[in-house]
Amino acid sequence: MQSLYSNGFEKIYDAMYQTFINYTDEYLFYNTLLKKYNKNSVLEIGSGTGNLAKHFIDNNFNYQGLDYSQDMVDLSSSKLPKGHFKQGDMRDFKLNNTVASIIITGRSTSYLLSNLDVTNALQSIYLNLDDNGILCFDFIDANRFFKMIKDGKHIHHAASFNNNQYTRDSYLNTNTSNNFMFDWDSKYFLIKQNKKTLIAEDKSEVRAFIKNEWKLLLHLNNFKVLECIDKPAYMFDCYAVVAQKIA
Ligand SMILES: C[S@@+](CC[C@H](N)C(=O)[O-])C[C@H]1O[C@@H](n2cnc3c(N)ncnc32)[C@H](O)[C@@H]1O
Repeated sequence: MQSLYSNGFEKIYDAMYQTFINYTDEYLFYNTLLKKYNKNSVLEIGSGTGNLAKHFIDNNFNYQGLDYSQDMVDLSSSKLPKGHFKQGDMRDFKLNNTVASIIITGRSTSYLLSNLDVTNALQSIYLNLDDNGILCFDFIDANRFFKMIKDGKHIHHAASFNNNQYTRDSYLNTNTSNNFMFDWDSKYFLIKQNKKTLIAEDKSEVRAFIKNEWKLLLHLNNFKVLECIDKPAYMFDCYAVVAQKIA
């Protein structure tokens, strides 16, 4: 996992994902939910390179970001000097004060590979939320996505940023030996003056979930599910869940 988000790769991620993800729409999605539940402080877990953070900060939200990768944290901090970003692991973190809401964005739940990882994350989140605080996160829906990648699937993506053209060739295949995992092999290319250069290569094992897994795991960790929203993303079928801490 780490190779994708550090050692210079964070800059490629930052460039390409601004094509893949519409962060304005992402902000509108989370802002609508947080307003609906009357929450004005937020911790974003998996804050990445700060592309979503920018919108929260521009709109004067009481915002903090947390990410496992120090390189992602450094890049978001340099892009947004007014932002509060810190390195940490969602499975074990402690804020100075509790917050009204926590969001886990960009399908960062895919890195909770075991049920112990999920439980540790939910327990940490519980301790860092105000009473009746809101947790909102998205996840890749195994039920739909695995039907699409069954027997293996090649997917090609193109992105452009600052006059640079990028492409990514992915090969995805299910790997259900342990949870609803899938293997994601990817090659990243930069195209300049008709010359295609391989700039990065990654092999990851990531996790998708079915809805009922989350419902049960949240219940076991003292969260009440308020909403489960169909939330298609650029590559995956996803759901977003809104849950409330039961004090
Ligand atoms: C797919 S990226 C999403 C980044 C950002 N939310 C976006 O939409 O651009 C996943 C992020 O989750 C972070 N991450 C992975 N495991 C984590 C963990 N255990 N705790 C906190 N962050 C984690 C990675 O470092 C990476 O920045």
